[in-house]
Amino acid sequence: MRLPIQDCTIVIMGATGDLAKRKLIPALYKLLADGLLQKYVFVGTGREDTTVEQIFEGASRFVDHVDPALWKQFQQNFYYVRVSFQQPSDYVALKALIEREEAARGLGGNRLFYLATMPEHFSAITQSLADHKIVHHNTPGAVCEGKACPWQRVVYEKPFGCNLESAQEINRKIAEVFSEQQAFRIDHYLGKELVANIAVIRFANTVFEPLWNNLYIESVQIVLKEKVGIEQRGAFYDQYGALKDVVQNHMLQLVALIGMELPQSLEGECIRDAKVALLKKTSIIDALFAQYEGYWQEAAVAENSRTETFAALKLAIDNDRWRGVPFFLKTGKALDEKSTSIHITFRKSPHLRQEYVCESNVLTITIEPDDGFSLKLNGKMPGKSEQTTPVHMKFCHSCLFGPNTAQAYEVLLFDALQGDQSVFVRFDEIEESWKIVEALGKNEGKLCSYVRGTSGPQELEEWAEGHNVRWER
Ligand code: BG6
Repeated sequence: MRLPIQDCTIVIMGATGDLAKRKLIPALYKLLADGLLQKYVFVGTGREDTTVEQIFEGASRFVDHVDPALWKQFQQNFYYVRVSFQQPSDYVALKALIEREEAARGLGGNRLFYLATMPEHFSAITQSLADHKIVHHNTPGAVCEGKACPWQRVVYEKPFGCNLESAQEINRKIAEVFSEQQAFRIDHYLGKELVANIAVIRFANTVFEPLWNNLYIESVQIVLKEKVGIEQRGAFYDQYGALKDVVQNHMLQLVALIGMELPQSLEGECIRDAKVALLKKTSIIDALFAQYEGYWQEAAVAENSRTETFAALKLAIDNDRWRGVPFFLKTGKALDEKSTSIHITFRKSPHLRQEYVCESNVLTITIEPDDGFSLKLNGKMPGKSEQTTPVHMKFCHSCLFGPNTAQAYEVLLFDALQGDQSVFVRFDEIEESWKIVEALGKNEGKLCSYVRGTSGPQELEEWAEGHNVRWER
């Protein structure tokens, strides 16, 4: 049972962007539909001249089962104000709007700001929110005029910075004006059901944890494939590429959850400590990059751009648990399917006579589609045969719990509104992940190419052979 959220003002900065339309507005609508938000006002800001009607029109395509009355009510309680991030007078207008609506609705000053903007604006917005006293420095339990101060929090969308230096600068800015408990650095993968399940699969099952090391595990594969290309996000994507768009954050978070040592408890802070320790020992030791054909024709992409839309990476973790076990990462846009999965391949059993040909046991965690996990084992063919056959034990999440599990952004917005940071990323995790990606240096080597809708560049096969890896399906 989820407790209702306290009365509050929710502000999306970057409300005209793709993320607001596709994810944030639909997630807020779901919180309303679930009755979790009762007294509230919403504000959207952006640099464009637009209207609330236009924003909602764009978002409505991404909401399943709209109740027209509730959608209308949502829209009527949503205001849009033009804010140019560097313009002080715009913050004055934003503050006036918030204060007017809070007074009219009897809201007590609890505020959540969601920065759905490019990361280069994070420091300036953070500073302006503090300078204009729109967000006050506070810590949980602080007292204002004899009662608990209203909470005021800021959510930072990913990517957090565009490199280590800029991430450090944003972290410094946050520390200067807010407390760490007010900063929520989001990685929406951590809100996905099967990602949240990884620690439980590992630590709540006696059959896995004793084997979770280089004596029994041969390799780990993490695959994040997308069917879509870069769509209308050329201006952003061309500066980032696959490495900074999904490896530095989503994929390294998965590496950290799979690889971390047993945390002191499954409480958020302890998991974050364990993830940081793991990331400090992780490095990329080989990479293959590629770009889909026709990428240069995408809107807002530089002529002759060398930005990678595909990456295959080999990682090493230098600690006693993982030394000698390669972690392979593969990701790309415009591929043959949309799927995210993790495959843990165990070493072959040494016990059978040679005439039995067995496959490796593989634990597959499917984050999407068809979330769940399965274990590939070996069974015997019927009769007196000495032949074995792979058999799969499967857990299907939606078969057991139904199809309506909350989506990632809904989970994370709810947690931020409740002040629960456990599935948000701490400043040091972000910095360590940037170090891993930056240590690779600028990709000046070969950039392969691939045809849209395929499984990647032809060179991938040779690369995989060279590393003795067979991609799991
Ligand atoms: C985002 C990236 O963080 O994650 C996008 O910026 C990518 O490029 C998306 O498409 C993938 O998320 P999901 O939840 O669709 O796997």
